[in-house]
Amino acid sequence: MIQDYHEFLEEILIPADELQTRIKELGEKISQDYEGKDFLLVCILRGGVVFLTDLMRYISSPHAIEFMAVSSYGVGNRETSGEVRVNYDLSSNITGRHILLVEDIIDSGNTLSSVLELLRIRKPLSLEVCTLLNKSERREVDIAIKYSGFEIPDKFVFGYGLDVDDYYRNLPFIGVVNLEKYSGI
Ligand code: IMP
Ligand code: MG
Repeated sequence: MIQDYHEFLEEILIPADELQTRIKELGEKISQDYEGKDFLLVCILRGGVVFLTDLMRYISSPHAIEFMAVSSYGVGNRETSGEVRVNYDLSSNITGRHILLVEDIIDSGNTLSSVLELLRIRKPLSLEVCTLLNKSERREVDIAIKYSGFEIPDKFVFGYGLDVDDYYRNLPFIGVVNLEKYSGI
């Protein structure tokens, strides 16, 4: 049985309306910054997908979207190392294009820094990062983040694209998991 999230929801960290307000601001800023430029939003699956689909509807300038799936090699239960494997690659060439990477959360930064390295080799015209959540307390590698939705504390969060063991991505808010009350699957 998949647990009802109410049983382990410690608190709602960011309610749905606050997410939408902030994402609208990000979309407007991106529209201004990329005005007149051909750009491509690259979403890292799967966590970034809910954010991407809302964000793109707040961006008024023309753009294309692409997806990429990577898995990072874990060093512990919820920890990542620096190595990533590309499970699903971009289907178009990014050489000479403006690329904006869309991420759900940057934690240690290991996953993203490997993805950035991989993409940089393909020589995009520009390569920037837009993350919904930034857990900067946990950062292990330095990453320049151009757009960041919310700075959050060092807690395990879920909802709005972020999963707990692959579930609960559909929830419209960002909640904190009480790991003692979460029974696992
Ligand atoms: P990093 O390599 O440590 O920065 O980990 C990044 C990835 O770990 C994110 O893209 C998420 O998929 C996952 N992650 C990190 N923190 C959380 C969290 O609090 N909830 C859910 N997933 C998380
Ligand atoms: Mg992710």
